[in-house]
Order: sequence, then C-alpha cells, then structure tokens
Amino acid sequence: MNRKDFYNYEIDFKTNNFNSFPHDIVSENELKLVNEILERKKSLNGDVVILSHHYQSKWIADIGDFVGDSFELSAKISKIDAKKIIFAGVHFMAESADILSREDQTIYLPNTLAGCPMADMATIGELENVWSQLTEVLPNKKIVPITYMNSTAEIKSFCGEHNGAVCTSSNAESVLKWAYSVGDVVLFLPDKNLGRNTATKMGIPQSEQIIYDFNEALGGHSESDIQKAKIILWNGFCHVHTYFAPDMVKSLKESGKKVTLLVHPESNPDVIALADGVGSTKYITEYIEKSELDETIVVGTEINLVYRMAQKFPNKKIVPLRKSLCPNMYRINIPLIHKAIMEFPVDMEIHVPENIKENAKKALERMLEIAK
Ligand code: 13P
Ligand code: SF4
Repeated sequence: MNRKDFYNYEIDFKTNNFNSFPHDIVSENELKLVNEILERKKSLNGDVVILSHHYQSKWIADIGDFVGDSFELSAKISKIDAKKIIFAGVHFMAESADILSREDQTIYLPNTLAGCPMADMATIGELENVWSQLTEVLPNKKIVPITYMNSTAEIKSFCGEHNGAVCTSSNAESVLKWAYSVGDVVLFLPDKNLGRNTATKMGIPQSEQIIYDFNEALGGHSESDIQKAKIILWNGFCHVHTYFAPDMVKSLKESGKKVTLLVHPESNPDVIALADGVGSTKYITEYIEKSELDETIVVGTEINLVYRMAQKFPNKKIVPLRKSLCPNMYRINIPLIHKAIMEFPVDMEIHVPENIKENAKKALERMLEIAK
C-alpha cells in the first residue's frame, strides 16, 4: 500500500487487523535519509536533540530522542544540555519550547506551517475584547484566565500578565483547582471540550458552565447567566477529536465485544460519557503499556499514536475508534527533519518576540509549578 492509499484505508474492526496501516511505509530514499539523520545526530555529539510528540508517525518517533505528551515535552526543555532542539510537533509546542529554553538554545520546527487550528481559534484581539466585556459584567469577581497549551504565545502571555496559567490535558484539573483557590471564575480557552470535560469531572454543574461565542453580544448570554457561571469556555475545538461520535462507540459496544474505550479529553462530552478512561496522550500510552494481553482497547485519539501502540504491542488488541489524522502533525516529515539536522536553516528557527516571552513564561512556569 502506498501513501496515496492512506486516505482510502479502512480499519477492519471484525478482525482487529490494524497491522497493515500504511503510515510507516517509507521509500528507499526516506530510509537513506533516516540513516543519515541518525549518523548526523551521532556526529554532533549530543549537541542536537529531536523531540517528538506522540502523534508523529513511527519513523519520526523512532528518530526522536524523546517521545512524549505536550506537558512532558515542555517540562523537558530546561533539562536538555543540547543547544539545538528539533521539534517534531506543531507550532504552539515549538513556541512553548522556545519560551522555556535557555538563551543558548535554539528551537527548530522542520515545517513552520505545521500549526494547530484549535490554537488559531483564539486570537489576542478577540481575547482582549472578551476580557473587557467580562470584567465589566463581573466587576467584583476575580476572573482567572487559563489557557490550554494548544494556544498561541500571545494568548499565553495574556494569561501570564493577568495572573492566570497554562494547562495541558495531563494537568487541567490541578490547574483549575489552583485557579479556584486564587479566584472566583475561570475563563478557559481555547478548547471548550477540555474545559467542560474537566469542569464536569470536578463536579461543576452544567448550569455553571457557559460557552462564550465571541461573535455574539456578551457571548450569546445574559448578564445574569455570566454572573452565575463558574467557568466561561472559549468556543474552540479540535476537529481531530470532535470527529468521534457516540454512535461509533454504540455500534462498537453493540458488536458484543468486551472492549475498553480510552479517549482524549478534547473529545465531545457525549463521547467522554461513554469512555472507560479519559486522559492525555501519556495517559493513553501508559494504559496500553500496562494492559493485559486479552484486553481489547479501542482508542479515540490521533491515528498515529494508536498505530504505533498497535505495532509496539503486536500481541495486544489495540484498535482505533476511527481513523482520525492530525494533518498538521503530518506536515513534519523525514525529508524536512533531514534538512533541519543537516543545515539548521534560519527559516526553521522559532523565536517568540521578547515582549511576549516574559509573561508567557510566567504562565507556563506557573503550570510547571502546579503540576510538580
Ligand atoms: P497531549 O497534551 O495529550 O499530548 O495532547 C496534545 C494535543 O495536541 C492533543 O490534540
Ligand atoms: Fe491541534 Fe488537534 Fe492536531 Fe492536537 S490533534 S495538534 S489539537 S489539530
């Protein structure tokens, strides 16, 4: 099967045959590049490190010195001796790495077009506008802005400047608990699903969770609704995870198979309600690693993670809920990593402007402190 067939590929749920997923099929030339990347890394004698997110394909994960979730990758930066860090992830991750890096380190993103649509759903102009509406309607309440890691550096900077914090899917609950210990109400952005799934888990009733649509006056709410809210959710989402729907889970359960369903918290609440386990990419990979051989695990997250796990544990039954690919993670490929490590091109460098860095760092470091 070649790459062209990738999009036509269907997973065989009856046999659990997932081993023919074509994403790890590389050409002769790519294999040659992989070897050159590894040789070059060796010759640079520890001066370059490749960090890969769990949503990268098998080959790219294998080239990586470290594979992790968003939190682990950002927590790693200051502990790395290397001066050059090639980030096999998306733009907001590379920006966070730059913010947390030392002066003598440079972050390279092999394709600077590898963005994240959810991060782009919150712009600084929109946030400033919403903030001034909220502070007017809630003059006596302390609003704490919390942004998911999947946001631009400018949004993180705003949160740092307004005594808020960053969170990731692995620590959203701890960060929200901290927020309620210092304030009255949380403005959570940009992912409404991570926000409401975490709030629901913490026992915040639906009536105190509102989704704020910045295109509408007061986000589409009355002043009294806003005054009653405990969490105000930005209207952002991830298309890779909102693709999963409850009927997919129901048809799976109706098949009579005994399965464990693990999903990422960016999924819709109606899918989360049917899941057996909910957590970050780290949580999902660790669950699979520790699971028993006879447990069939259905996974609702990006397809490359699921495939890599199925390959790593061929004696376990690891099945994707549906094939859902992050097209931005896919923009990082072997030829571009090869170019990065051979030439360290200036146009692959990620530099967050100094005026944004300081407060963004405050928000990120607050998260690292809370999640310790
Ligand atoms: P994790 O923080 O769980 O690695 O997820 C990042 C992400 O982009 C999920 O879509
Ligand atoms: Fe962004 Fe979704 Fe891709 Fe994660 S999976 S990087 S949230 S588009």
